[in-house]
Amino acid sequence: MSMVKEREYEREEQYKYRKPIAFLRDAGYRCSKSAVVWSLVGFLLMLQLYSLATHRSAVKGDIQFRVNRHPVRELEQVEEEKIQVPPVRKKRSPHASKWRHKRNSALVNEFLDENSQLRHVFFPDMKTAIYPVKAAGNESHYYHPGKIWLDTEGNPIQAHGGGILYDERSATYYWYGEYKDGPTYRAHKKGAARVDVIGVGCYSSKDLWTWKNQGIVLPAEQKNETHDLHKSNVLERPKVVYNEKTGKYVMWMHIDDANYTKAAVGIAISEYPTGPFKYLHSQRPHGFDSRDMTIFKDDDGVAYLIYSSQNNSELHVGPLTDDYLDVQPEMQRIMVGQRREAPALFKYQGTYYMITSGCSGWAPNEAVAHAAESIMGPWETMGNPCIGGNKMFRLATFLAQSTFVIPLPGIPGSYIFMADRWNPVELRDSRYVWLPLIVGGLPDRPLEFNFGFPSWPRVSIYWHRKWRLPLSWRVPK
Ligand code: GAL
Repeated sequence: MSMVKEREYEREEQYKYRKPIAFLRDAGYRCSKSAVVWSLVGFLLMLQLYSLATHRSAVKGDIQFRVNRHPVRELEQVEEEKIQVPPVRKKRSPHASKWRHKRNSALVNEFLDENSQLRHVFFPDMKTAIYPVKAAGNESHYYHPGKIWLDTEGNPIQAHGGGILYDERSATYYWYGEYKDGPTYRAHKKGAARVDVIGVGCYSSKDLWTWKNQGIVLPAEQKNETHDLHKSNVLERPKVVYNEKTGKYVMWMHIDDANYTKAAVGIAISEYPTGPFKYLHSQRPHGFDSRDMTIFKDDDGVAYLIYSSQNNSELHVGPLTDDYLDVQPEMQRIMVGQRREAPALFKYQGTYYMITSGCSGWAPNEAVAHAAESIMGPWETMGNPCIGGNKMFRLATFLAQSTFVIPLPGIPGSYIFMADRWNPVELRDSRYVWLPLIVGGLPDRPLEFNFGFPSWPRVSIYWHRKWRLPLSWRVPK
């Protein structure tokens, strides 16, 4: 072999052996890399399966508990509703023709049409009103969602967009809401239907069914036009919490002008749950616009303000100061871009839950349930909690909008979902839709941040034409 050929031969030989060695080395590297990746995936899968299994058994345990120990089972029976929407008439009421929603438009249009043949189904008349103090024996304690509900004096309850405070000191429930017993009109041609501010109504009850009118605990201002509570403005969704540290009852509410451009929260304070409440002032919390809102008081006594902001495109959540009279600087933006409002919060086994509505004014739309490990987020969206009725009914939250969720102590995982069936033609005749809300069972939709595995049990709101709380709850202990 010549010198040149010899070198070429050497190079080829080297190359022949180097390639497989490099290949083996690369393969080894790739192998170990993919092994690491696959073990990681495997580990995560195991973790998820474990959490699913523990969750399942927790849920099973919960259901078992319910079957054996408390009688809400009948409330979980699905009740169908056969509402036949009549064929679209040519001449619709202007309220209805404005409403164009893709999925539930037929029913919602019918609902918004004051001349609808189904008007008596959506808004049953006074003849069918529920009058708890006169309801005898077998009829007692039944909620009839959508029917007129009378107080102990026989007048329709006026507590719209309301919330409930359980006052431990008097062992009494207080229901606060918008007192809307005035004429409905529009401030402008294109403005929303409205009623002049009358004030915040308050009702008391021991059984959550029989309500005594305690009067208007925060009245409107009649003369001073610059006052937040002037009758020409807007006062909505009042919520009251008791502050243990100061011994005061604190009310937060949505304060606005007739065009909804002020977008603020108002704060009022009282010595007693039945008022009178002293109005302090309004503010734009954290410097942001604030419309639909609620207050949630946590087990540790910290209260939070949750409000729709950035023109209803997102919600904001932040703790109140110790005296509940202001917000703290800390705030989180949640459900960004989701356009949710009418927030109603509750907590079960350390998890926070929220029901919200979409934004369509007085017209009903689809409710969504959300869950979070920390009230400050992140919040995950779990889908529509409504069960029963029929599909269109579920897509319109049984023709109502969330306002509050009442915990039922003694029946773990069970709540009352409070909603408003708004009547934009005659707002004072808006109705209450109270339904059982139960936490338990697997969610029906994979969650975004969790490899499709459920982390939380399902939140279900069951439709009933008529229902009542289990006997164990109704009979005072
Ligand atoms: C809804 C809101 C109500 C009220 C209404 C006015 O979106 O939830 O509280 O503000 O709009 O149109």
